[in-house]
Amino acid sequence: MQLKILVTAGDGIGPEVTREAVAVLQEAASVGGNEIIITEGRIGGIAITTDGTPLPQKTLDAALDSDAVFLGAVGGNEFNSLAPDKRPEAGLLGLRAALGGFANLRPAFALKELAVNSPLRAEIIDGVDILFVRELLGGAYFGKPREWNKETGVAFNTMIYSREEVARVARVALQLAQKRRKKLCSVDKANVLEVSQLWRATVIEVAAEFPDVALEHQYVDAMAMHIMNRPRDFDVVVTENLFGDILTDESGVITGSLGMLPSATIGGKVNLYEPIHGSAPDIAGKGLANPLGAILTSALILRHSAGLETEAAAIESAVRKVLEQGFRTADLVRGKDHGYKVLSTTEMGAKVRETVKQILA
Ligand code: IPM
Ligand code: MN
Repeated sequence: MQLKILVTAGDGIGPEVTREAVAVLQEAASVGGNEIIITEGRIGGIAITTDGTPLPQKTLDAALDSDAVFLGAVGGNEFNSLAPDKRPEAGLLGLRAALGGFANLRPAFALKELAVNSPLRAEIIDGVDILFVRELLGGAYFGKPREWNKETGVAFNTMIYSREEVARVARVALQLAQKRRKKLCSVDKANVLEVSQLWRATVIEVAAEFPDVALEHQYVDAMAMHIMNRPRDFDVVVTENLFGDILTDESGVITGSLGMLPSATIGGKVNLYEPIHGSAPDIAGKGLANPLGAILTSALILRHSAGLETEAAAIESAVRKVLEQGFRTADLVRGKDHGYKVLSTTEMGAKVRETVKQILA
């Protein structure tokens, strides 16, 4: 098997965590004689500084010519005063649109090794395994018209969806639910927004083709609360772009650190993989960043773009094993007399790599 991956490491901790994740991915793939070809491209703040644009044409061309794109993180404080279409984030949004993936899969899970990292009680998070399917190409993120009129002092965005845009993401979520615990929760704000009424009606329509999946609906405000109170009740959750952005960060609290969570975006020309965490400029370059979210993202690449399930599962087991053995990056350490073995970004990467090797041997 041969797989061409474009790595866009981006800003802040992006480069240091993707470096470790790519090394783990290479390790896992090479055992079975698979060949991973890595090319690198600039995106985000580093691209603004070097190429004068957050998404250079060269990066876009390379992305469309790859089997998968692996993104680190984008964003930095020095760009905060730029207009939305000039910021590092615009590079990521442009890449998402060009690749065409509309279903962003974001797992939220509890690991018993990290139970103390969650502010939620162990009895609440024990066994949580949610898969969020966040619609990624519609809603207020891309809706037009959009404007900040400095003269009138009025600004607006447009939260817009077509039936087809809702139907295709609902279908992906329902198919995923069929392979899991056969439960789908659709999240909207249909008590206030027309766009949510269309969302709900469309999900109901598509779900009729999946009689084996139990469908429920929640309003987004109530859902924010249910996720904290009874997260175990949810299996697959499908929602629109902005609600999904918010609820998946909230759900990071279940795992205990956003630094642990991977994501995969499917359904377009080229799949896009990115950890959920951001660029964390405050800790960049200090060896403090947690590479496990990026490493778990590399497992998703092997699973969804290479069909290498054994290797993907080996990476996931290796991460658990390393945690079980008491290894932690600094973000995962609570209290003073913790007894953990605290590792730097590269040490953690090496530990996981070594463990993957043992598992696949
Ligand atoms: C995410 C991020 C992005 C988003 C930003 C960086 C554009 O918050 O992937 O969740 O809002 O989608
Ligand atoms: Mn976000």
